[in-house]
Amino acid sequence: MAGGGPPTAPGAAAAAPGGAAHGAWRGSGARVRGVGGVPDSFRALVAEKRDEDVARELRELSGDDLGDGDVVVRVDWSSVNYKDALAVSPKGKVAQISPLIPGVDLAGTVVDGDGEGREVIVHGHDLGVAHHGGFAEYARVPGDWVVPLPDGLTARQAMALGTAGFTAALSVQRLEEHGVEPGDGPVLVLGASGGVGSTAVGILAARGFEVAAATGKPDEAGWLRELGASDVLSRDETSAESKKPMESQRWAAVVDPVGGASLAYALRTTRYGGAVAASGLTGGTNLETTVFPFILRAVSLLGVDSVNTPTDLRLKVWERLAGDLRPNGLDESITREIGLDDVDPFLDDVLAGKGVGRTVVRVGA
Ligand SMILES: NC(=O)c1ccc[n+]([C@@H]2O[C@H](COP(=O)([O-])OP(=O)(O)OC[C@H]3O[C@@H](n4cnc5c(N)ncnc54)[C@H](OP(=O)(O)O)[C@@H]3O)[C@@H](O)[C@H]2O)c1
Repeated sequence: MAGGGPPTAPGAAAAAPGGAAHGAWRGSGARVRGVGGVPDSFRALVAEKRDEDVARELRELSGDDLGDGDVVVRVDWSSVNYKDALAVSPKGKVAQISPLIPGVDLAGTVVDGDGEGREVIVHGHDLGVAHHGGFAEYARVPGDWVVPLPDGLTARQAMALGTAGFTAALSVQRLEEHGVEPGDGPVLVLGASGGVGSTAVGILAARGFEVAAATGKPDEAGWLRELGASDVLSRDETSAESKKPMESQRWAAVVDPVGGASLAYALRTTRYGGAVAASGLTGGTNLETTVFPFILRAVSLLGVDSVNTPTDLRLKVWERLAGDLRPNGLDESITREIGLDDVDPFLDDVLAGKGVGRTVVRVGA
């Protein structure tokens, strides 16, 4: 496990945004003081387990507080993912160290180590889980976690995509490798108003697929149609339990970041030879199904993991996100912007399933 030195809290006081602690060296070409590219003091959101609860607060930290690694990144942008909410929740079972700087993804500029001066993306591995993450003005990470920012994406756009967008792209790539093509019939996206879901709708529509979006938020139907969905279904329909092992064949493929009863629905309703790309668990971790969709309809269940994606595939998917998998509405519809100060209260909304689209966090940009 990668190390994550415990962030101490000298004074434990949250600095005012733009306060003297970091304003002294940022901007105006001033050189960073401190050690190894990290200034003497920088801001971070810290989650610390206390008895049955998790305390969260902004703290002033120093380079000694960061995790192990040979590359230091000045974080310009991060984003909010469902896993971040799990990482700061007492029942989330995601955080592996305490105290922890959460934030499972970040984009910024290398200030020390290989690639100094280059813009990069870091996500997955242990970031924000067992190694301090992106909700801090600086991060120190192992060099092999670092992905160069692809041409055609700004750091902000990279985090508008972030872990969720990467997972959506990986899901689409898995389905394409299975042989699913535009023209095969409708592709269903579950949890469509969430980060993975909305980005998948935008990617599939941009690729020319017919997209059906399932959501528990009827008010978002218009927005999902703007992203490219031609049909919007209610979550009640796609998470309904059924005693039937199979139902009418509807979907050429399904992108499923929800799991639970919705994954069972997807398997029951996917057409002969189709596939379901499963990545998430917002709707539950149990799967009650039968073998019949697999042995009578040749349906495939494809697993999607963004955390340990091998480097060559990681690079390829980011290149594709800047190119042929760029989703509809990347700038206009998908992005909401908050500051480091606003992350903490927002995480509770995300855990409650209220998140809509993608939320980028302006950290040091
Ligand atoms: N495998 C991987 O590598 C990987 C990577 C990234 C994310 N994930 C997983 O993918 C899932 C989505 O992540 P995200 O960042 O896109 O989350 P998010 O932005 O918070 O979206 C989650 C969405 O799930 C839907 N949902 C369906 N049933 C729900 C329920 N019972 N309770 C709450 N929400 C429900 C909601 O959309 P509607 O209201 O539209 O139904 C909600 O907006 C999470 O489980 C996450 O852990 C996995």
